[in-house]
Amino acid sequence: MKTYKIAVIAGDGIGKEVVPEGLRVLDAAAKRFRINLSYKHFDWSCETYAKTGKMMPDDGLEQLRPFDAIFLGAVGYPGVPDHISLWGLLIPIRRSFQQYVNLRPVRLLKGVETPLRNRQPGEIDFCVVRENNEGEYSDVGGRIFNGTEEELAMQQTIFTRRGVDRILRYAFELARTRKSHVTSATKSNGIIYTMPFWDERFRAISAEFPDVRTDQYHIDILTAHFVRHPDWFDVVVGSNLFGDILSDLGPAVAGSIGIAPSANLNPQKQYPSMFEPVHGSAPDIAGKGIANPIGQIWSGAMMLRHFGETQAADAIERAIEEVLATPEFRTPDVGGKATTEIVGKAIAGKLSV
Ligand code: NAI
Ligand code: MG
Repeated sequence: MKTYKIAVIAGDGIGKEVVPEGLRVLDAAAKRFRINLSYKHFDWSCETYAKTGKMMPDDGLEQLRPFDAIFLGAVGYPGVPDHISLWGLLIPIRRSFQQYVNLRPVRLLKGVETPLRNRQPGEIDFCVVRENNEGEYSDVGGRIFNGTEEELAMQQTIFTRRGVDRILRYAFELARTRKSHVTSATKSNGIIYTMPFWDERFRAISAEFPDVRTDQYHIDILTAHFVRHPDWFDVVVGSNLFGDILSDLGPAVAGSIGIAPSANLNPQKQYPSMFEPVHGSAPDIAGKGIANPIGQIWSGAMMLRHFGETQAADAIERAIEEVLATPEFRTPDVGGKATTEIVGKAIAGKLSV
């Protein structure tokens, strides 16, 4: 039996509270489905930064390289600027390990109230596929004439054919396992070089998947459709910036950010992939034991699915839905009074029976 090696980075704030519940549920699923998981914990965080001046050691990426996956809580805390925590840990991991897919499922679950009127579970069930390695988030650019009237800031957007094609292909392949429909986020009316290129590649790749239906919308009206017609979508693919925006809006229409999971995938498995909730370290509720652990737990299910442990992943997702449907097992963000631990134990308990 293979042992999956997992690097665990709980990080900051509620990351430290939800990760133990994520591991509790993974352990329960592993036991039930006879999977071997081994964990190694890393204390990389803003606290470590305050002590050492670094978010992770110089050889941090080499230390992570041999693992099958990284299970991350959240990083970022008041006192350390967000660009330091992000560019010191998360972004180097995503880029060096070619985690070029950021996958965020959006599903309205029973027991969660959506801010949209009259939407039922089943009507909101789609995935945002965000390009995670290039695009608008590049460090190519600069500033000159600082502090003068001529001051200038410039930042390059980078779209490569390899980078665009591989994210589009991933979206089409994913759609084939779902409802066979891909929507592309574009803005080729305003952004006249990179976005027409994106559209061109979208047409080219869609020709390889004649069985998959396609749509495309400019990002501005697409955000409106997320709110007005969330039932229109199956797989939505976007560049780094557009995907970032859509992947926060998506979970917002499906209720609490506390339940939203995400995966940073290297689909070829040449490098470890990383699984983390969509939310951050939530300093406003950290230390109170009331954070919703479901985003973390669901990310664990995505990790098992990436390993090919489909049955175990399905079982965790079912357990999440059953527990959320029970009012006494809801944390305050979804209208209940339960603690982080009570919810984690309830989900783990469903897997043990
Ligand atoms: P946040 O996601 O931490 O919090 C936003 C709001 O949602 C807060 O009111 C919080 O209490 C609530 N919330 C978040 N997760 C929750 C949960 N599991 N249960 C219940 N309520 C929850 O975003 P914010 O405040 O913008 O960022 C805080 C810190 O986290 C910053 O330093 C930021 O850079 C970092 N961050 C890190 C991310 C990561 O590690 N991938 C992602 C987003 C933010
Ligand atoms: Mg974001």
